[in-house]
Amino acid sequence: MYRAKIVGTGFYVPPRVITNHDLEKLMDTSDEWIQQRTGIKERYYVEDGVGASDLAYEASKRALESAGLKPEDIDFIVFATLSPDYTFPGSGVLLQQKLSARHVGALDVRDQCTGFLYSLMVADNAIRVGQYKNVLVVGAEVHSTGLDYSTEGRDVTVLFGDGAGAVILTATEEKDRGILSTHLYSDGTYADRLWAEWPSSRRLPRVTHKILEEGKHFPKMDGPFVFKHAVRRMVEVIKEALDTNGYTLDDVAMIIPHQANLRINQMVARQLKLPENKMYNNIDRYGNTTAATIPIALTEVLEKELVKDGDLIIMVSFGAGFTWASVAAIL
Ligand code: UT7
Repeated sequence: MYRAKIVGTGFYVPPRVITNHDLEKLMDTSDEWIQQRTGIKERYYVEDGVGASDLAYEASKRALESAGLKPEDIDFIVFATLSPDYTFPGSGVLLQQKLSARHVGALDVRDQCTGFLYSLMVADNAIRVGQYKNVLVVGAEVHSTGLDYSTEGRDVTVLFGDGAGAVILTATEEKDRGILSTHLYSDGTYADRLWAEWPSSRRLPRVTHKILEEGKHFPKMDGPFVFKHAVRRMVEVIKEALDTNGYTLDDVAMIIPHQANLRINQMVARQLKLPENKMYNNIDRYGNTTAATIPIALTEVLEKELVKDGDLIIMVSFGAGFTWASVAAIL
């Protein structure tokens, strides 16, 4: 039986910085409101023509380099995104081509903010049973081309940014390294509390001029409702990760949470009585990059040497679906 060890990480954001003041020019919002309610100061947007697979390509190159591996060493690709380049095919195959990787399997995962952790579960299990040695797991999003820049969309639009993060998992026979547990959940009861309803394959045609004019194709969210559930579920699933592995919070070097709202993460930390230096937040600089938040944060935590070899980390997320998950790993 193998374990899946994190041997490389990397991230990429496009060069164009968008500050809260930039958004003030487009809609009725303010830097003060955005910072107070979300913790966000700026985020990055792509230029026209850049897709999730392009961001993923840059992040993957960096992850491969940090692992000391080449594209031909990859045995499988898992690509988490809610903003694929095209309706089909998925962005995983585009990444395979861009990397000039071998003809390996490429799986797109559609679980929004929790997509990266769902992807780690797939990679972990494939490695554990000995099917693959090196798996590339990527989270990448281009939100900026699909947001409502009118005042009506301000609650959602100010939150999101573009970016990508990538991790290389490698099979190891070391007993005390690698992913320890993955706990994944969903509750579709609340699918319409955070969603993009249009275009929809349930409708003929899938989208109309009227729908576009009314802005019904933009993402919609019941923010306070999502917020409340996020705090509760993230606390629950962190505790489950600890209990399953026989650890307490004292054993944890760093909690790496999804970056949806700084206040959500602060509330989670408060409920757990977690010291501030044991939870990593970078939402101030990137906003919410959905499936990319955790691999971006993980890369920064490693680059800043906030954790070291042998440390226990817990990654945790909550998002549209609803979906939520935690992954515990020893570095
Ligand atoms: O990653 C997926 C998971 N997503 C999340 O977990 C997000 C969860 N939700 C949130 O982060 C927060 O609910 C928001 C940041 C979306 C909203 O913050 P809030 O503190 O829950 O505000 P609210 O929705 O209760 O709105 C308060 C007020 C409203 O005005 P009135 O009705 O009190 O006059 C909103 O219209 O703030 C107004 N508002 C804004 N004002 C300025 C909403 N968005 C904005 C804005 N700028 N961008």
